[in-house]
Amino acid sequence: MKLLVVGGGGREHAIIKKLKQNPDVTEIVALPGNAGIAQDAKCVNIKATDIEGITQYVKRNPVDFAVVAPDDPLALGCVDRLHEMDVKCFGPDARAARIEASKVFAKNLMKKYGIPTAAYEVFKDAEAALAYVKLCALPVVIKADGLALGKGVTICMTREEAAAAVKACMLDGAFGASGSRIVAEEYLEGPEVSVLAFTDGKVVKPMVSSMDHKRVGDGDTGPNTGGMGTIAPNPCYTPEVAGRCMKEIFLPTIAAMNAEGCPFKGCLYFGLMVTKDGPKVIEYNCRFGDPETQVVLPLLKSDLLTIMRACEDGTLADTPVEFSDGAACCVMLASGGYPGKYEKGKVIDLGDAPEMAELYHSGTALSDDGELVTAGGRVLGVCCTAGDLETAIDRAYRAADQVKWDGMICRRDIGARALGILKGAK
Ligand code: AMP
Ligand code: GLY
Repeated sequence: MKLLVVGGGGREHAIIKKLKQNPDVTEIVALPGNAGIAQDAKCVNIKATDIEGITQYVKRNPVDFAVVAPDDPLALGCVDRLHEMDVKCFGPDARAARIEASKVFAKNLMKKYGIPTAAYEVFKDAEAALAYVKLCALPVVIKADGLALGKGVTICMTREEAAAAVKACMLDGAFGASGSRIVAEEYLEGPEVSVLAFTDGKVVKPMVSSMDHKRVGDGDTGPNTGGMGTIAPNPCYTPEVAGRCMKEIFLPTIAAMNAEGCPFKGCLYFGLMVTKDGPKVIEYNCRFGDPETQVVLPLLKSDLLTIMRACEDGTLADTPVEFSDGAACCVMLASGGYPGKYEKGKVIDLGDAPEMAELYHSGTALSDDGELVTAGGRVLGVCCTAGDLETAIDRAYRAADQVKWDGMICRRDIGARALGILKGAK
């Protein structure tokens, strides 16, 4: 079988490595891929957001199955276009992708169908939003409606911060059209859990839970990033919490999307907060998370391609989705300055890391001299699995310590909180 994977980051690298384990797979093409993915697939330089370019490519080079991994091509209707060409796909169509692409859509869906989430108000008008934040309870969370690279969310402790966030979104256009509508949301407290789930629009099969580390600095300090590292499983996702999530959140979400006439097929990502009143949805993503995928897929025992095809064909109920009992840790190595300005083109020395860990490339490229160089903010995910979390973390850091480039940064405490929880529970 010939497969197409749209995207070019660490998540796509992890997906491709897993897909390759199926013996029927003869070729994988990544659009655009990156220098690491090029070791596992054929990379063609067509941007993931270039839907026209992607469809033209597929017309000339037919594929048996396509996986559309990032949020923007999903929101732009990449799956719809491929379906029109009778290409089977893993991923939601544009109408279903609104569950991530519009926070207003997601919040209204949860309200209508009684899915637990933070209380909220929607504003289209800056004056009304500014009047609201003069009186609302604090802290308040201000979110741009549309996709904003994970940066459209501001947690405001004071009215001044809230007013500034409203102005940045609605008057200064900090997030472009994404910020013309905003959601002002109640601040929730509790540990965060990420759960990715396969669904064919009928049944939902959750994957092993994970924990992201979104802030750039140790001890959860500094600005938010795309994710500086992950561990799986997440110790806060107890069997009791999992049971409540299935009943109160996962199944009702699938039913709600069906009732709205936009059934969701693919990977639905539940960003959850385990509050004292039970689990609540912080956000939905219409795709695999990055770097959650880098710890979740290495623990998947079942065949990924079989599951993805079952999601498209509506046969997930009969398809096993099994995970190993072990743990995984992914340490993200990033460019100095990230998530702010950073330099590219730094030569990467991998040392012995390739023998010690799975390396998932996020932002890497080959220089004109054929050297591996940095090409993004997040550069490389160093991932290890083990029978227990402590060993997985230890192995991942030993391998990460092998890697060097000028200005490289990495958090030193990925998994530390999870380990603390596990040790406290003993
Ligand atoms: P999002 O892009 O919606 O995932 O938000 C980014 C991060 O902001 C989340 O991972 C949370 O840590 C935090 N966050 C978002 N919404 C809330 C909320 N209502 N209460 C507390 N923290 C929040
Ligand atoms: N790691 C969070 C995300 O993929 O949105």
